[in-house]
Amino acid sequence: MEAVLRTITADREASLEELKAFLRIPSVSTDPARRGEVRRAARWLAEHLSRLGCRVEVRETPGHPIVYGEWTGAPGRPTLLVYGHYDVQPEDPVEEWTSPPFEPSIRDGAIYARGAADDKGQVFIHLKAAEAWLRAEGRLPVNLKFLIEGEEEVGSPNLEPFVMAEAGRLKADAVAISDTAMLAKGVPALCVGLRGLIYCQVDLQGPATDLHSGIFGGSVANPAGVLCRLLARLTDEQGRVTIPGFYDDVRPLTGAEREAFAALPFDETAYREALGVPALDGEAGFTTLERRWARPTLELNGLQAGFTGVGSKTVLPARAMAKVSMRLVPDQDPEKIVDAFETALRRHCPPSATLTLTRMHGSKPWLAPTDHPALQAGARALERGFGRRPVFIREGGSIPIVTTLTERLAVPILLLGFGLPDENAHAPDERLDLENFSRGIVTVAHLYRELT
Ligand code: BES
Ligand code: ZN
Repeated sequence: MEAVLRTITADREASLEELKAFLRIPSVSTDPARRGEVRRAARWLAEHLSRLGCRVEVRETPGHPIVYGEWTGAPGRPTLLVYGHYDVQPEDPVEEWTSPPFEPSIRDGAIYARGAADDKGQVFIHLKAAEAWLRAEGRLPVNLKFLIEGEEEVGSPNLEPFVMAEAGRLKADAVAISDTAMLAKGVPALCVGLRGLIYCQVDLQGPATDLHSGIFGGSVANPAGVLCRLLARLTDEQGRVTIPGFYDDVRPLTGAEREAFAALPFDETAYREALGVPALDGEAGFTTLERRWARPTLELNGLQAGFTGVGSKTVLPARAMAKVSMRLVPDQDPEKIVDAFETALRRHCPPSATLTLTRMHGSKPWLAPTDHPALQAGARALERGFGRRPVFIREGGSIPIVTTLTERLAVPILLLGFGLPDENAHAPDERLDLENFSRGIVTVAHLYRELT
């Protein structure tokens, strides 16, 4: 282990240069214009895995490729499946970045770039841990399988069928995923719960074309106004979602769960200040961590209608559009919830406008038992990497494939997050703390041993 740790330290600068090359590729999965770049990131990864000595396959899909690599040189030893994603979120608003999103920049002890934390930097941690073992010892104490996809940020539509079909090949004793965050700097965490997600687009069409709001206003429904009213009635003043049946299957938090959340070293004032909001907000009767981790929500992700340019224009827009998502918790069913959402919208949509609902993607909520031996192995590895026992947390975000992996492979899943909650995932100035990057590699290097 000493030699492995020395290799990690000695390779740090070279590793960062390699990570920069990975981060320079703008692999934005949701943008059709970036299709070639997404492929380039897949190839970059495949080459890197081959250089490590993995047998690699880049599997084509109707969307973006899946990169699969395996190192099976430890017969009789456990197998660890590492899942991650090489696709990233769009960089906009690009003018709000301090340094360009796809020109990685190191400053203030962090590496700044889109994908630094979510998730290229965290995937890279796993590559470097394996590389350190192979270079220092010529072998790994476990077998490794890497499953790195290019469509996580768009709901993993093609990984789902791949996992269902290839469960035999993916067989492992545990799954490790680094695509979440620590509770705070210096506080490592094992994540045991994720919220599910429904993502929809709502389009409202009124008149065939934009109209003069003076000539026609008052006689024709205004889609922008109708959409605002429709959306506004989906939540109430108490921060609750008003869709009939929305809470029917929500599993209430137990007393023990609420106590465990309350006992975590979470600084609510620092959280509020870091977000720059005058006050926190949410569903009445729940704490901030409960609201984020264990309560469902409905969020308006974007709105578009009418004239938003400089100056004024008296117009009655022909159409209005909203992107709406809902975060789900156990035991809500995405299908059932999206049906209820559509019913609620249509019930109140006036006959003077035409509503179209596009269901974009959905994923189930996930909650893991905390007593599995593999989880304890993960906890010991984090303790070695960070010098402090990890806390058990949940996250409010979603990783769509996690429930499928749990159900299809029937193995424990370790969510070892090396990001920080304030590292601006999905936002301008995304970054990854460099100390956590190094400690992450050390943690994963220990994890292999702890699993045996
Ligand atoms: N890394 C995140 C998931 C995450 C976010 C975990 C925050 C923990 C804390 C992941 O890449 C992500 O952003 N997922 C999307 C899923 C989606 C677009 C299908 C999400 O949660 O919005
Ligand atoms: Zn991610």
